Parts: sequence; structure tokens; C-alpha cells
Amino acid sequence: MTVRFVVLASGRGSNAAAIMTATRTGVIQGEVVAVFSNNPTAGVLEKAHSESVVTHVVSLQPSESRLEYDTRLCEQVRQTRPDIVVLAGWMRILTHAFIDGIGVPIINIHPGLPGELPGTNAIERAFSERETGRSYSGVMVHLVPDVGVDTGPVLGTSVVQIGQNDTLAMFEDRMHTAEHELIVSVLAQVSTRFSNSQPIEKPTQGEKI
Ligand code: GRF
Repeated sequence: MTVRFVVLASGRGSNAAAIMTATRTGVIQGEVVAVFSNNPTAGVLEKAHSESVVTHVVSLQPSESRLEYDTRLCEQVRQTRPDIVVLAGWMRILTHAFIDGIGVPIINIHPGLPGELPGTNAIERAFSERETGRSYSGVMVHLVPDVGVDTGPVLGTSVVQIGQNDTLAMFEDRMHTAEHELIVSVLAQVSTRFSNSQPIEKPTQGEKI
């Protein structure tokens, strides 16, 4: 059984692109059946088009509440019949209207280690903490069981060192590379387990880069 992934992304889409490449080349046994974005100008849309993946833009309507938006988004995502939803740079906090309504596992990528730097600008915040002694950060991939921000059962982590001579751009590049490698590795394992009807809550080995 091939896993049907649906990717939600708000920005440039480098993680989504890594996932789409890996499904196309068979590294991940699955298919990205749709990419959703809340942002009509997101780079991820172009990346999906170049992979011939169907895209949907679901923009927030004026005066639409968070719950109303999530209910509408959930209905549209469900119509694509996902087995797993992947948040790859989805820059909206999801409410229970989506999380409870979608009925399939949701997996998120966070550019921080478990319990660290939840929310936006985690890479910049980690880098700025170098001044106070931080020498590494990392990335994690985790399940999204509830409305917590960047929390949930961890499926994989990867530690990324902050070099003394790093610029922010250098650190960002390594963090993004780590994200791309980790999400592909985790989804490859998840898809294998899914195909064998095994539960997906099995941590992968953390890798150090
Ligand atoms: C990634 O760092 C992701 O972890 C964070 O936002 C960034 C999105 O990058 N939530 P991209 O759109 O996948 O290139």
C-alpha cells in the first residue's frame, strides 16, 4: 500500500521539495497527492507544479475565525484522501477543528530540538543564543496529537552544531539541510511501517551532523 501524503506549507517549500523528490525517486514509498498553502504567493506552489503535484490555496477570508478557517481547510484536505498530513513550514497554529477533524496522523518539522525554541524564528533565536553559550541546536520531526506548538511524540531528531565562525546564513543552511535529510528519513521509515500496517510512533535514531 502506497502512502498518500498531503503537505501543508506556507513559504518557499524547500522541505516540501525534498519530500516530493524523495517520493518521486522512491526513497519514500509514497506519493504527495496534494500541496496546500494558505499563501497564494508561496514558493512551494511553484515547486509543486514543477513536480506535477496538485496544489490548493486556502486563503484566510476576511472576518473568518480561526476555527472556521480550520474547519474549511480540514474539509478540503480530507477531500484529497490523505493517509498522513505533513506540516512542512506551515506557519499557522492549527486548532482542534483541524487536528481532531482530519482523522489521520499529522507530522510536523520544527527547526529546534525537542522542548526547545517553539514557535517562529527558531533558527535565528538559537543563533543569537550563541552569545550566551549555546553551541548547538537541531531539528526534530514529531507527531501533532494536539494544539501544542512544536510538541508531540518525537519521530526523529538531528543535532546541528553552531560554529564559532558561523554566520547566520551558514548556520541556516546547515539547519535546512538537516531538516531535509531528517524529514525524508522519517517519512521513509513511516511509509514502510504504514505499508506494513504498523503504528508510526517509533522514534528513529537521532543523527549528528
Ligand atoms: C523550516 O525551517 C521549517 O522547519 C519552519 O519553516 C521553515 C520552512 O522552510 N517551520 P521551507 O518553506 O520548507 O523552505
